[in-house]
Amino acid sequence: MHMHKFEKIWLIFGISALVVFLSVVGVSAFYFGFKPPSGHHIIDPQKVEQTAPFDKPGLIKVEGKEWDYELVYVASAFFYNPQEVEVPLGAKVRVMVATKDVIHGFQIVGTNINMMVEPGYVSEIVTTFDKEGEYLIVCNEYCGTGHHLMSSKIKVVK
Ligand code: CUA
Repeated sequence: MHMHKFEKIWLIFGISALVVFLSVVGVSAFYFGFKPPSGHHIIDPQKVEQTAPFDKPGLIKVEGKEWDYELVYVASAFFYNPQEVEVPLGAKVRVMVATKDVIHGFQIVGTNINMMVEPGYVSEIVTTFDKEGEYLIVCNEYCGTGHHLMSSKIKVVK
């Protein structure tokens, strides 16, 4: 079969682009562990503060689980509760976030944690804080006039 030179170049370009895009998706999913938030854990958005563990936001030590701590956040316009929390270095933590009102974001800057927090669902991820220092949490879903003020802080300490 005869193929024109430009046809060949175009075909090679198309296939290479496909390989590159699929590799990017594969590496981010399997190597970096990016995945959509799980939707199987639901919550009544009007009763967030009456529903355990969201009735006591903050760091909770747990026993007999795959992780050592649960770090519980209630998000609302334009605030995270708790505002600041200390996590021991090297602790395996299950981060759980629920919103009382609208959609918020939950990104821990400098990590691969970046979740959407939707009313009715608990967003969660298990992570290990293995670097000392201060981590900023920001909202990256536009949620209203105070969106840019919405933040919290995690201090990882020895
Ligand atoms: Cu909360 Cu933007």
